[in-house]
Order: sequence, then C-alpha cells, then structure tokens
Amino acid sequence: MTKAVHGSLLGIENLETADILGYLKLARRMNPLKPRPLLRGKRILLLFYEPSTRTRTSFEIAAKSMGAMTTLVLSSGSSIEKGESLLDTAYTLRAVGADLIVIRHPHAGAPFQMAQNIDIPVVNAGDGMHEHPSQALLDAYTILQHKKTLKGLKVAIVGDIYHSRVARSAIHLLSKFGAQITLCGPPEFVPEMATTLAPGLQISRSAEDSLHGRDVIMVLRVQKERLAGKKIKLEDYIARYQMTMARLKLAKKDALVMHPGPIIRGLELTWEVADCAQSVIVEEVHNGVPVRMGILAKALGKAS
Ligand code: NCD
Repeated sequence: MTKAVHGSLLGIENLETADILGYLKLARRMNPLKPRPLLRGKRILLLFYEPSTRTRTSFEIAAKSMGAMTTLVLSSGSSIEKGESLLDTAYTLRAVGADLIVIRHPHAGAPFQMAQNIDIPVVNAGDGMHEHPSQALLDAYTILQHKKTLKGLKVAIVGDIYHSRVARSAIHLLSKFGAQITLCGPPEFVPEMATTLAPGLQISRSAEDSLHGRDVIMVLRVQKERLAGKKIKLEDYIARYQMTMARLKLAKKDALVMHPGPIIRGLELTWEVADCAQSVIVEEVHNGVPVRMGILAKALGKAS
C-alpha cells in the first residue's frame, strides 16, 4: 500500500530495488557540509506526534542545508491537543504554504492517509508499528559503506521485532536485495508469524545461534514496559538476549553492530558493545543527514 504518491516516501515494502538504489545513490551525492540551495524557498513542515531526537533533527538539518525553511509542529502545544483531526491538521499546514510534510505518527497508515488527501509530498518518519523508511535507507547506506553488497549478507535482527517499525522496514529492504535474515528474540517479541513479513526469514530463540557467522547484527530498542505481565522478565531478557562482547565474538570478526537508537546501555547491549570498534551506531545517525537530504530533494523533484 505504500507506493510513492506525489513523490511521497511512505514505506519500503512497495518500492522496487531500483527506487531504493536511486535513494542511496542520491544520498552519496549529498554533503551537508557543502550546502547547495536545491530547496531554496521551499517550506518543509515537520509534524511530530511522537518523541524523536535523531529523525527529527536530521530531517531538519537536511532540509536547512539545502536552503529550505522548516517549521516544527509537535502534537503537544498545537491544535492537535485540542482534538484536531490528522487531515484537518494537514489542510492547515497546506494552507500556510507547506511544500512537503514529514510526519511521525503513532498510527500505522497515518502518512498514507495524509498523502492520499493532500497535493504535496508526504514523508513517513515512522508510523506506529508499520514502517520507518528513512531509517532503513540510512541503515542500508551505512552497511554499504562497510560491505560490498547486501546480497547474501547474513544479518541477525535481535530484540523487539514485533513492535518495531525499524525492523519491518529493514526486513523489507534487506530481503529485496537477497540478504539472509534471522530474527532473534523471545516469542513475545518475535512471534512465529513474523516469518510472513518476507520470504526466507528464519527465527531463532537463542542469541548465540543467531549470531554465528553473521555479517551484521541489528540490535533493537526494548521498552521495559512492554515486558510487564509477559512470561519473560527483564532479567531473563538481559541474560538471554543482551548483546555482550562474548556473544559478539560468535559473529564474523568484522561484523557490524547497528542500533537505530535511542540505545539503553545495560539492557539491549552492554556499554562495551555500544562503544566497540565494530559499532556503527554513531555512523548511522551521521548518515541520516545525507540520506534524508536525498529523500527531500527527490520528493520535491529537485534530485536530478
Ligand atoms: C526508532 C523509532 O522511533 O522508530 N528510532 C529512530 O527513529 N531512530 C526507535 C524505536 O522507537 O524503536
């Protein structure tokens, strides 16, 4: 359901590999330190119904480094708090002259609904448990700075896959390029039905098994409150799935450790792993800027 509408980027699932390669190529041409006024005079509205640090700031810096004007609208402190609907908010932003809306929303499909009802591009900055396409693109971009190809790449995704839009978009992207993906976590976070997300997905309940011979380890955020009332307790999760140096040693020597952030040291991964030489967590954040520059330029038809 997420084919581009009016230049919108709504998800990875319905993109062709050529579209994805196009975004990656574009990102490689972008340099936030050498600004080009590609988007001069454009107004980009950043509409965030959920907290965000990395995604929000990198979209903002991306837009500004191409000369666009940005306005941030947070759900708190705006008319959204007074009960204004998503579409009425969209019409309002359009009426004040928005040329593009970047939206993060707790409901899956909200960016799609907006894109169908408005005549400007919409970029999904994370919708509920559905997709987070710019994160998947920046993750692929980061991987390809270290590995020659995504084809045949052995990837373990460890943690709360069920609730993760980051995982969903990464799974769609990596499997389109023929990566071999193992999803690892307890059944509460990795239900059997997770294999239906893409062909060839494997599930492992053992961190050790899932890490053997891997090229990339993607660690996901775990929200403590999501373990409340579940069979698996926080201490068990940490004992069985936390990324430790001992577990990391089971992967290939040059395996990358990734995490979309925010990281909780001592829960999903140890301090040592977060800061180890194989960790590309800071690089992922850094790469968010050129990747999002490419996304905005393409959405506004300024990518050629
Ligand atoms: C993720 C998000 O908010 O979707 N982080 C990010 O955008 N970099 C993290 C998450 O909530 O799992």
